[in-house]
Amino acid sequence: MTSILVLNGPNLSRLGSREPDVYGSTSWSELVESLESAATPTETISVRQTNDESELILWVHEALDSRAEVILNPAAFTHYSYALRDAVAMVTGAQIPVIEVHISNPHAREEFRHTSVISGVASGVIAGFGVESYHLALAALRSRR
Ligand code: DQA
Repeated sequence: MTSILVLNGPNLSRLGSREPDVYGSTSWSELVESLESAATPTETISVRQTNDESELILWVHEALDSRAEVILNPAAFTHYSYALRDAVAMVTGAQIPVIEVHISNPHAREEFRHTSVISGVASGVIAGFGVESYHLALAALRSRR
């Protein structure tokens, strides 16, 4: 059995109503449902969201301890959380995949979004495909097993 944690940072629970021109009209609950129902018989997929950096880091530690694969949308933490980066580095350093995802393409947006402090320690990055980015990340995880 493979466990997959889909971890999401600040404000992503507002998907659907938050800047729909940037993030689309799929609601948070629709995204959760579409990901959890995409699990194969040999996978469990747990989708979580927090606005709290500490909680997000603890979930990354949990992934390390349970060897769960990770899909991570760090949201705004992407651009400045060295603490989250250090946590992700422990996971990928233990040969557990962490795919960084973004709904929008941060490189096509404001300058401060062009830097990700996470990408350098992630297994890979998928950005700019709307909520489909998460499903592409799932496919990426499956392809590397
Ligand atoms: C985001 C991009 C970030 O710059 C932003 O702070 C988010 C969402 C995305 O999924 O496109 O909250 O990670």
